[in-house]
Amino acid sequence: MLILNHKQIENLISPSEVLEAIEKAFTFFHEENFEMPDRMHAHYKDITLLLMPCFTDHFFGTKLVSVNPKNPGIGKPSIYGSMILNDAKSGEPLALLNGAALTAIRTGAVGATGIKYISKETSQTVGLIGTGIQGFTQAIFACSVRPVKKINVFDLDENKLKDFVTQLQKHLPSVDICSLKSSEELVRESEIIICATSSEKPVVPDDIKLLQNKCFVGIGSYKPNMREFPDSLFSLIQNVWVDTPFAAKESGDLAIPLQKKLLQENQVKPISNLVANGEFDKSETTFFKSVGMALFDIVVAEYLYKKAIKENIGTNIIL
Ligand SMILES: NC(=O)c1ccc[n+]([C@@H]2O[C@H](COP(=O)([O-])OP(=O)(O)OC[C@H]3O[C@@H](n4cnc5c(N)ncnc54)[C@H](O)[C@@H]3O)[C@@H](O)[C@H]2O)c1
Repeated sequence: MLILNHKQIENLISPSEVLEAIEKAFTFFHEENFEMPDRMHAHYKDITLLLMPCFTDHFFGTKLVSVNPKNPGIGKPSIYGSMILNDAKSGEPLALLNGAALTAIRTGAVGATGIKYISKETSQTVGLIGTGIQGFTQAIFACSVRPVKKINVFDLDENKLKDFVTQLQKHLPSVDICSLKSSEELVRESEIIICATSSEKPVVPDDIKLLQNKCFVGIGSYKPNMREFPDSLFSLIQNVWVDTPFAAKESGDLAIPLQKKLLQENQVKPISNLVANGEFDKSETTFFKSVGMALFDIVVAEYLYKKAIKENIGTNIIL
């Protein structure tokens, strides 16, 4: 069994390879060429444990992820995880991958796939609310699909915001990384707005004029009581593009507007339709909501495993 750690996963494949894997996963989704039981959410005190299995023709696997939003308060990341990749025919375990690193790169690529299909091709400014682990890869991957010149960032935690700007600037030396004092200013100054927070209340201002003609990407909310986008967004958009249909139930970003009848069920559409048909949403205001799914993990894990074998990366162990 091959073990791939955090650093190895970060360095093994490029953003364009992760994007290719995610587009392949969306194609599997569109063709229904996979088997994915509903993911299980188990809660105990502050911890949510997600068990995420998925089968494709050549591989199957399970990602186990724990989320504790209080961890940053004690200097630890919110998300820990591990993924076991198995051979689809024999069931033999092939690899154990660091699930946090896998999640960060695949979620970055999922957000960027949304941006590719629903934002204006000329977009040069990105606004990022939430400067955590996901925010970092969201910013990096956004730059691989649009000619981004400036990234505006905002977070409630000023210290985190400062460190984030320094780190992101090192990764993206040719992009102007700018820390802002409010989400109002951020939305005003950005064409694409990505939210990657653990907030329970909308982080984007409820101001219809401010939201017009922008592209919004929601990454953070994965529970019915979590929400990043305000009511007024739903009077501006024609569709909500989702990475997976269960986003409508799992995320308060969709479940609450559906309950309030600000959004109709038939407006919630899988973005895999756009990916498979090579179509783009050209509406003035657009919205992509992601909650993630195990199919992304399994396809990206397959890319990582195959490349690691080819390049002799990782540690082999016998269980
Ligand atoms: N869509 C997906 O596939 C996917 C994948 C992984 C994680 N997530 C979710 O994305 C969210 C972020 O994950 P992470 O690993 O980056 O967490 P993190 O704890 O590293 O970062 C979250 C950041 O949000 C900031 N924040 C919280 N409330 C805010 C507010 N109201 N305004 C501004 N900033 C605020 C926090 O200060 C923190 O910096 C979590 O809810 C996580 O569960 C989604």
